[in-house]
Amino acid sequence: MAEVKYSIEEKMKKKQILVVEDERIAAEDIKMSLHRLGYAVSGAAISGKEAVKKAEDLQPDLVLMDIVLVGEMDGIEASALIRSRFDIPIVYLTAYADKKMLERAKVTEPFGYILKPFDDKELCSILEIALYKHKMERKLKKTQQELIQSEKLAALGRFSSGIAHEIKNPLGIILGGSEFLEMKLSRVDPEIKTAIKKIKESTFRADRIVKDLLKFSRPSILKTERIDPNGLIRETLSLFKYRTPLIEIKIKTHFAKEKMFLEIDKSQMQQVFFNLLLNAIESMPNGGLLMIKTYKMAPSEFSFAKKLCVIEIADTGEGISKKNLQKIFEPFFTTKREIKGTGLGLSMSKMLVNNHNGDLVIESKPGKGTTAKIILPFC
Ligand SMILES: Nc1ncnc2c1ncn2[C@@H]1O[C@H](COP(=O)(O)OP(=O)(O)O)[C@@H](O)[C@H]1O
Ligand SMILES: [Mg+2]
Repeated sequence: MAEVKYSIEEKMKKKQILVVEDERIAAEDIKMSLHRLGYAVSGAAISGKEAVKKAEDLQPDLVLMDIVLVGEMDGIEASALIRSRFDIPIVYLTAYADKKMLERAKVTEPFGYILKPFDDKELCSILEIALYKHKMERKLKKTQQELIQSEKLAALGRFSSGIAHEIKNPLGIILGGSEFLEMKLSRVDPEIKTAIKKIKESTFRADRIVKDLLKFSRPSILKTERIDPNGLIRETLSLFKYRTPLIEIKIKTHFAKEKMFLEIDKSQMQQVFFNLLLNAIESMPNGGLLMIKTYKMAPSEFSFAKKLCVIEIADTGEGISKKNLQKIFEPFFTTKREIKGTGLGLSMSKMLVNNHNGDLVIESKPGKGTTAKIILPFC
């Protein structure tokens, strides 16, 4: 799978360290060492409380934490809070190392422990190992989550193929029956007309869910062909031409100049584009800007692909809250009760892109907008 987390700029960027130390001279000493070693000091704190607040505000790459601090909260308590709330690695830097303290510190799962006085070499090696360990831990967590997700999807596929066909037939009969009743009775009583309308609407909704479920259960054999992604996006966009909301939505495209070709399954990828474009449009009920970009990207250190193609679909819609962002790839997760979303669009799109050895990443700023990135390897 294409790994996109660490761009070249990110790798070149200096790592930001938050220094927590209540002795002014010691703090200055540490800062100087960090600068000499090529790190950036994003901030400094003298108490546990201040450390937690600054960790939240500054989101540093690592916290260098003294254990004995002024105020009620010591470094160990502050570390426990920072670890659990913000997933930032901690390295303790302290002059004391009695057994009891070490035991307490251990529980907060520090990424390193440095005893004062220290030298630059020691500091550098411990920080580098801590940053690397944390990066790997994050990667492992992400892989674990993806595994759980794909297990869930596989189970859903097996489950849905079993029942979707069974449900389709009775749904057809309900729909046929209500149409018959509509014809016979709706002129007699307006209340009956409304009731029948509701039955029909709900039946259509159930039918849509069943159809989406069936797509999950289809065998994922790819019928790939050489396709220009820009052309396929244009084709998919034209499917939205007659949807009224588009009137207020401005569409801009910024396609890569050079010719690009991908080995992809046309109908599967079109389905992905469709789902993402639909989500973008649905997020802008009062209009906005839909920006579609395609470009080439160098692979990250984790990828085997020679070059990657990125297809970006960005909207200026309502965005997604941090809490919801963790759930959007779960099958059936939807916030669109009123417009009857099924919550299958993103989970299915992710599965389809993964089947192409690619990845689908969603970034969002609540109130500002959302960007979906499809990353596919060139063959
Ligand atoms: N472009 C977007 N802007 C805002 N929210 C989005 C966007 N794309 C997805 N979401 C959120 O993710 C949820 C899941 O999306 P999806 O799987 O496509 O299901 P559905 O669109 O049927 O709700 C949506 O209900 C919405 O809350
Ligand atoms: Mg959707």
